[in-house]
Amino acid sequence: MRAITVEGGRRLRGELTVQGAKNSVLPILAACVLCGGVCRIRRCPRLDDVETCGAILRHLGCRVCRQGEDLLVDSSGMDRWDIPDDLMRRMRSSVIFLGAILARCGRAELSYPGGCELGPRPIDLHLLALRRLGAEIDESGGTLRCRGEGLRGTEIVLSLPSVGATENAMLAACGARGTTVICNAAREPEIVDLQRFLQKMGAEVRGAGTSTITVEGGRRLRGCCHRCIGDRIVAATYLCAAAAAGGDVCLKGVDYRHLSTVIAALQQAGCRIVSRDRMIRLTGDGALRGICPVRTAPYPGFPTDAQAVLMAALLRSEGTTMFVENVFQSRYRHVSELARMGADIRLEGRVAVVCGVPRLRGAAVRATDLRCGAALVVAGLQAEGTTRVEEIRHIKRGYGDLAGDLARLGAEIRETEI
Ligand code: EPU
Repeated sequence: MRAITVEGGRRLRGELTVQGAKNSVLPILAACVLCGGVCRIRRCPRLDDVETCGAILRHLGCRVCRQGEDLLVDSSGMDRWDIPDDLMRRMRSSVIFLGAILARCGRAELSYPGGCELGPRPIDLHLLALRRLGAEIDESGGTLRCRGEGLRGTEIVLSLPSVGATENAMLAACGARGTTVICNAAREPEIVDLQRFLQKMGAEVRGAGTSTITVEGGRRLRGCCHRCIGDRIVAATYLCAAAAAGGDVCLKGVDYRHLSTVIAALQQAGCRIVSRDRMIRLTGDGALRGICPVRTAPYPGFPTDAQAVLMAALLRSEGTTMFVENVFQSRYRHVSELARMGADIRLEGRVAVVCGVPRLRGAAVRATDLRCGAALVVAGLQAEGTTRVEEIRHIKRGYGDLAGDLARLGAEIRETEI
């Protein structure tokens, strides 16, 4: 079993280029099946979730090969429309293949998706969107059997702006005849990136980044080349790491506007942050203060994916900070692990209150999900002694080389076999 070992107390210094965004590349890889041609995905991060996508695509009959930072997907030989249960369970995003396969093949068969345990993660809105487009979905026996030979464009109103349901609706709508309007769509930058990819394929999609997305379906799609946006959550993680450890860090390859709420929170905590174009520079001495309540919300609100790493950065702050998790029902599994390191966090339902403590101590802790793992590393950087983060397979799902990147910035951190 592999672990990440951190010796706390080192300042971070230097420059780093942020990886391509996981939550952009996963739906884009699913979208590759729409065209029946060759797509080149540039700046495709090396992640376990990307591997899982590759395995799904190969199972469907596509050819997938890596060329350095690029991933090539040739979907011309696609001859299956099912996804085996073991691949579905490996990650939540596997469900995005549903809309894409349905649009390409007129049918799809798969089971319910797995992914990080963040409380109940239903897919009712995904299914509602597909049914609105005319798909017939049988959910008996844990398998989703979908038929949709003649999908028709329509209005789809989402009761909440689900990222995944918006993506599934966009992909299925590309294969539907006529106009689809998705109302109350998610506005995340990753949705805008998916729209750009679909447009390059020849799809008529507009409105991403706003709450109303329109798709003129039935266009003939072709292979294309696309470079993914930088990962704003990975960038948020490195900013929080530098804020907690102190130092001078410059991140490149990420749009600072995608991080405005995270940057504002860290500035309020006492960090100096300068950003322009695709560069963010943070300087600080590691002494932070408590900030106004942090309430997670769909984009452009504070990202739920950055809640754990910001909390970890504030553990030694002067004063208190309240967190309110509004997106997922149960996304505080990092709290009990952080407590092992001496953190003082009071938890009640969706609210967590961090009371800053003078020092944290290294401990053996477990990454219970992806962002929990990243938060434990951020805590380890500022703790006295050694922190050993176990079960790092969760971290590998979303960070190409968390330990290596932080080591390059001067942290004493490495991956070890235990
Ligand atoms: N929801 C429903 N019904 C649905 C779909 C969602 O009730 O059919 C609820 C969820 O239970 C949740 C809320 O809506 O409470 C938001 O879920 P959403 O569908 O927006 O999230 P997602 O598509 O499953 C993506 C990211 C997550 C990120 C969320 C929110 C990907 C691959 N995953 O998940 O990323 O937390 O949006 O921004 O894009 C991560 O990277 O660590 C991660 C978990």
